[in-house]
Amino acid sequence: MRIPNELVQQIQQAADVLDVVGDYVSLKKRGSNWIACCPFHNEKTPSFAVSPAKGIYKCFGCGKSGDPVKFVMDIEGVSFAEALRHLARKYNIEIPEVEYTPEETQRQNEIDSLYIALNFAKDFFKQQLQTPDGQAIGLSYFKERDLRDGTIDAFDLGYSSSAWDAFTKEALSKHYNLDILQKAGLTIVNDKGRQYDRFRDRVIFPIHNLSGRVIAFGARIMTNDKNQPKYLNSPETEVYHKSRILYGIYQAKNAIRQVDNCYLAEGYMDVISLHQAGIQNVVASSGTSLTKEQIQLISRFTKNVTMLYDGDAAGIKASIRGTDLVLEEGLNVKIVIFPDNDDPDSYVRKVGSVAFQEFVKNNSQDFITFKVKLYSKEIQNDPYRKSEVIKEMVASNVKIPDPIQRSVFRRQIAHLLDVDEQTLITEENFLIKKERVDYQKRTEKQQTPPPDSYPPESYHSFEDQLPEGVSFAPEETYAVETGSKVTDHSRSSMSYREEGVIRLILHYGDQVLEGTEDTVCDFVMRELEDIAFQTPLYQQVLDIFRSEWMNGRILKSEDFLRHPDPQIQDMTITMLTEKYTISDNWFNKFDIRVAHESDNLLEETYNQVLRLKQEVVRDKIAENFKAIQATKDINQQLQLLRVQKQYKEIERQIANILGNVIR
Ligand code: CTP
Ligand code: MN
Repeated sequence: MRIPNELVQQIQQAADVLDVVGDYVSLKKRGSNWIACCPFHNEKTPSFAVSPAKGIYKCFGCGKSGDPVKFVMDIEGVSFAEALRHLARKYNIEIPEVEYTPEETQRQNEIDSLYIALNFAKDFFKQQLQTPDGQAIGLSYFKERDLRDGTIDAFDLGYSSSAWDAFTKEALSKHYNLDILQKAGLTIVNDKGRQYDRFRDRVIFPIHNLSGRVIAFGARIMTNDKNQPKYLNSPETEVYHKSRILYGIYQAKNAIRQVDNCYLAEGYMDVISLHQAGIQNVVASSGTSLTKEQIQLISRFTKNVTMLYDGDAAGIKASIRGTDLVLEEGLNVKIVIFPDNDDPDSYVRKVGSVAFQEFVKNNSQDFITFKVKLYSKEIQNDPYRKSEVIKEMVASNVKIPDPIQRSVFRRQIAHLLDVDEQTLITEENFLIKKERVDYQKRTEKQQTPPPDSYPPESYHSFEDQLPEGVSFAPEETYAVETGSKVTDHSRSSMSYREEGVIRLILHYGDQVLEGTEDTVCDFVMRELEDIAFQTPLYQQVLDIFRSEWMNGRILKSEDFLRHPDPQIQDMTITMLTEKYTISDNWFNKFDIRVAHESDNLLEETYNQVLRLKQEVVRDKIAENFKAIQATKDINQQLQLLRVQKQYKEIERQIANILGNVIR
């Protein structure tokens, strides 16, 4: 269904970027911008900026940017139209119902239909809880488990009777489409064409997505019948991807943000019981092993996870696997193991909320203490086993992206296991190197063959604009990762310019420019605000610099030497190698002054930035020239020629300045 254009504009105008983004992340004012940790990727220090003046947001870490509508699309995972509706609701703008055209009816979004059917099912199961049967069986079960009416309502809990097709019959009578009911995982049609309900004779736990829509169900048997699964869950559907959702996230997200910590439990009942006890920052992985996507979901709201696990062997195993994954995503992780035979649900009901919190506080262990304690018995008299454990601990530790945190943990491992720190560093380096080799092997396999003509056609057009004697001969090739494919590019002069800038900030980023209050980094970041690097690797490094710089920190080359991405490590090493710096070939080829930059840092900084800009302008000139040739429309040609003249003027000015600066 189409939303009229005027209305689209009205919604776009009403949507205030601070207000919309602020619903999801907590923003802090920094200058004329507001910043936060990016909700779209994992980070510890904010590189996500919102500009109220421009009405946009941009993450300098992952590159996501846009206006309020785009933000809602990305964060809620919805279409443009759905995002508009979402904003219309927020700003009380009424969207008149328009008649469907026949095609529109046909194409009517299947996803919307699934949501509607799932919502209908949720309401149906809730009603069933209030029928005489439902009260006698379902509701009394919940009461037996100490749930109050408010809690049952907050989680939309329900009941399905033992009838074969009570739900399906009701839904069909309300003109729900059988195909949709099947696709939603609610109705099953067997070989003989018989339709029956997936969930029968069970209490129902609806699973909500981040915006509170029901996307699936878990259903628990009410007896101890060992012949049937305790829980039945919806299958994966177009709206339910179980690896990407956490049970309770909708009810917990605000509390998680406020408390700045997320309790991660295993089961539906753990979430519900804790919530009822006033501990609302809790979600569950619901019986599946924890995934990266689930951790990323949490990290939109907090960087601190406390894993609450049963004291049984399976619980402990699950938590070991989970911790490494949480560490890898750059979150802080604590582990709490409950006494044998208790899970968070039974424990909180036993001791109450105050004692529960007290227990969690006194029994939270960091992952090192947790693992060391776990293994302490077996390593006491077994040096071989001990060395294995040390290796395992180091393997966990290298997964932490933050070097400072890693060194703190390293010290602790050394202390607790009574090993030399240097030994641990050696082991870490070994693992990092191994990871690098593995990575190279992986990427080599993905190499695509070089294109037929080398250099590619497109490069010829501005070859003549390069300094004399310079060509794009593929003398030096450079692996650049673009998306998932690794391609081999002959290096462009642009990439040399970009490299020049990166090299400068790697070496001298924190140095103050003579006669100014700016550091090299300040100057470069400001000057290049609107310029995107063409080499993904350099852009990535620039982004990392920028996000730290926005927080008042200027990175040093050391920070990049330990970067988990082997490509960045390699690049840093290469750039810090003296031999490379004074390579004659490189020096002559592009006529860039390389030696003794620090002698005249101010000049060198201007020089590098200007040379890059010069390259960018040349690029634009070439692009525009192509456009001029391509168009037949005389007016457009004139317009483009005017632009061309402006570019040429900029180019001339830069050349003038460079002429003065470079001797
Ligand atoms: N689970 C599942 N299917 C099963 C068993 C368990 O999906 N057959 C999931 C459920 O999400 C459940 C979680 O794993 O909540 C943890 O399982 P378990 O500890 O057995 O259940 P509890 O949550 O403790 O449930 P209850 O207290 O109702 O027994
Ligand atoms: Mn339980």
